[in-house]
Amino acid sequence: MLSKKTNKIQPVRGMKDLYGHEYKQYKMLVDCAVLAGESHGFSVMNTPIIEHRDVFVKSVGETSDIVSKEIYEFTDKGGDLLCLRPEGTAAVMRAIVSEGLTQSMPLKLMYYGEMFRYDRPQRGRYRQFRQFGFEHIGDKSPYNDATLISIVMNLLESLGVSGLSLCINSIGGQESRARYASEIRKILEPKISFLSHDSRIRLDKNPLRILDSKDKCDQDLCASIPPITDYLSDQEREYFANVCSCLDTININYSIDTSLVRGLDYYTDTTFEIKVDNLAVCGGGRYDNLLSEFGGPSVSGVGCAIGIERLFGLISVPETLRKIVVVIPVSDHDIMYAYNVFHSITGTRKEFIHIGDMKKKMQKANKLCADIAVIIGETERQSSTLCVKNMKDGSQEIVDSIGLMNIIDRS
Ligand code: HAM
Repeated sequence: MLSKKTNKIQPVRGMKDLYGHEYKQYKMLVDCAVLAGESHGFSVMNTPIIEHRDVFVKSVGETSDIVSKEIYEFTDKGGDLLCLRPEGTAAVMRAIVSEGLTQSMPLKLMYYGEMFRYDRPQRGRYRQFRQFGFEHIGDKSPYNDATLISIVMNLLESLGVSGLSLCINSIGGQESRARYASEIRKILEPKISFLSHDSRIRLDKNPLRILDSKDKCDQDLCASIPPITDYLSDQEREYFANVCSCLDTININYSIDTSLVRGLDYYTDTTFEIKVDNLAVCGGGRYDNLLSEFGGPSVSGVGCAIGIERLFGLISVPETLRKIVVVIPVSDHDIMYAYNVFHSITGTRKEFIHIGDMKKKMQKANKLCADIAVIIGETERQSSTLCVKNMKDGSQEIVDSIGLMNIIDRS
């Protein structure tokens, strides 16, 4: 809790305070993503931060790192086993069924908010982080996979994020993956003693997870495993080829990465990640069986989530176009009149500076980089006028309140 070096109270490990420029980047991303989503027919659905633990066990998978190691779980006072949500997709599927929205397919939903994973904190990896996600459910078509990818690529480019690279893959459906899993077992079982502890467990329960391992020795052993694309059915192969053609048609560059199986169990067919400087800033894919796991109809969906913290420092926030107007009463007698004027100003950033002598007040106006100072002394008060000073060129005008709004609008 207390830092040994500074003796100051610290936030919980892996969690950070959001304020200042980072808050501006967060808000900018959320505002732009909502606009981008709305222009493609998505609407916002925000689900609770706390869910039943089972929501993620049956979807993300018992053997995934997220559920087996990283979930923040607890039993509440009523004895229910709950967790802080580690991701948004399963929660949205749960909500579609809980809210009776299954009759309104196809659904295009977007969401943003905090996610929690108890992972080892490092560059771009936090225990509390924020995601912006999109889910398009009930309309399986390669056009929708490619459109979703293009929405995110265009969004990130429009926010000034450069160096984006897109990797895609297809992991097929349950049958193809079962064939692939037995092939992985066949190859790795003779070398089981060289596998890491986690991968030995996965070899039995979920061998595809081994391809995701960060252990160097596991990775070397995986080099001899043929790519998953060799095990796809003709139909799955064709679907993936169509997704790639759609991306080609709309000029989105990508590379195919056959090791991209992703760390969540619900994916089928398309998987993808968008990276900057080798760090994933967005991940997603298609899921055929997720909604039905929650008792909904058997319809497919495609979605992805952007990791907002990973974009901090990469988003350019334009300097506000709004002017900074300061209202300065000359003496204490002018304060109430000036306060009233201050409240009547709308549509711009404004500050009321009433403490100190005139020199101090003007210094504060300069420190705020004010564009316009509205100075109110006895003369202005008596004549119901305002002295408006252009802080950039020093010129002054005496105007009424309408004149002030005109000056703000044109400057
Ligand atoms: P995910 O790949 O686990 O997918 O997370 C999506 C993004 O969240 C990652 O690409 C990364 O930018 C960010 N992220 C993940 N973990 C952390 C962390 N510990 N700290 C900071 N950022 C992180 C999902 O969550 C899926 N629900 C995405 C999806 C939506 N698939 C279909 N629909």
